[in-house]
Amino acid sequence: MTAPLTVLVTQPIHDEAVASMREAGAEVRCLNSPRPVGGAELAEASRDVQALVTLLTDTVDRAVLTGNRRLRLVANVAVGYDNIDTAAAREAGVWVTNTPGVLTDATADQAMALLLGCARRLVEADAMLRSGNFPPWTLLQEPMGLDVTGRTLGIVGMGRIGAAVARRAQLGFGMPILYTSRREQPAEIAGLTARRVELAELLASADFVSLHTPLTEATHHLIDERALRLMKPTAVLINTGRGPLVDEAALARALAEGRLAGAGLDVFEFEPRVSAQLLACRQRVVLTPHVASATDSTRRRMSTLAAASVIALARGEQPANRVV
Ligand code: DGY
Repeated sequence: MTAPLTVLVTQPIHDEAVASMREAGAEVRCLNSPRPVGGAELAEASRDVQALVTLLTDTVDRAVLTGNRRLRLVANVAVGYDNIDTAAAREAGVWVTNTPGVLTDATADQAMALLLGCARRLVEADAMLRSGNFPPWTLLQEPMGLDVTGRTLGIVGMGRIGAAVARRAQLGFGMPILYTSRREQPAEIAGLTARRVELAELLASADFVSLHTPLTEATHHLIDERALRLMKPTAVLINTGRGPLVDEAALARALAEGRLAGAGLDVFEFEPRVSAQLLACRQRVVLTPHVASATDSTRRRMSTLAAASVIALARGEQPANRVV
C-alpha cells in the first residue's frame, strides 16, 4: 500500500473541498491560520508535505519551495499567483496551479459595480441621505454624476476577466471598447467591436480604464505618475486586478489635484493597508477590500478547483490549471 499524499491547507477553505481531498485518500492537515502565512512559519509548517493549498495572501517563497524535497504541488486558491515565487517553483520542480474561470463573472460584475458606483457617486449619495441630507430635486443638484452609456472603456489586459467586463460594458451600456493585449485577436471578445491599441493611446482616449493584467515585474506600477498624466481629467480608473499595478501615492495625488475624476478600487498596493491620502479622496472614489470574487458560489468553486489539483496529484495525474 502506498502512503497517502500529505497536504497542508494554510487558511480556512470550504469543508466540502477538504472532504473531497480526504475522500481521494489524501491526508489533509488544516493549519486554519486566521492570518496569511509565509516565510519561516510556512517553511516549518510545510516541511514534510507533498502538496500545499494556499491563499493569495500567503507568501510562498524560495525557502518554502526549495526547503522541502517532497513538495510536488502548490494549489493557489486564486487566479492570480504573484504570491508564489514561480521561478523557484520551476527550479524545484514543484507544480503551481491557480483557479481560472470560476471567478470571471463575479470579478467582472464587481468591476462594473465600481465603474457605475464611481460614475453615479452611489456611495456619496447614500452617505448624504443617511446623514439626513435629502436635498430638494433641482437641475443643478449634487452629487452630479458622469455618463456611462456610450462612453469609451479602456481595458488593460484582455484575458477572461477583461473580456467579461468588455461584454457587460458593450452589450449592456453601448460602450466602445479599446484594449491592450499581447494577443492580436483575443477569442474571448469575438462578436464585440473592440480596438486593440497601445497603452498610451488607451489612457489618453478612454473615459473609464479598467485593469485586468496580471501582476509581474513588467506590470508593477504600470499606472504610475506618467501614465496618470496621460489620462483625461474626466476619466475614472478601475482596478480589480492587483494593487501594485498602480502607484497608489501617485493615484492619490492625481485625485487630490483633480487630474483624474475618480477611482474604483478593490485591490491596493500594500494590502491590507490603504494609504491615508487615498482614503481622504472621496469624490467619485469607491474602495472595497479585495472582495471582487466574494460571492458564496464563486468562493466555493475556487476552493473546489484548488482541491481538484490535489486530487489529481493523489491519483497520479497531472493537475489542470498548471501555471508552472
Ligand atoms: C484572484 O483570484 O486572484 C482574485 O484576486 C481573488 O479575488
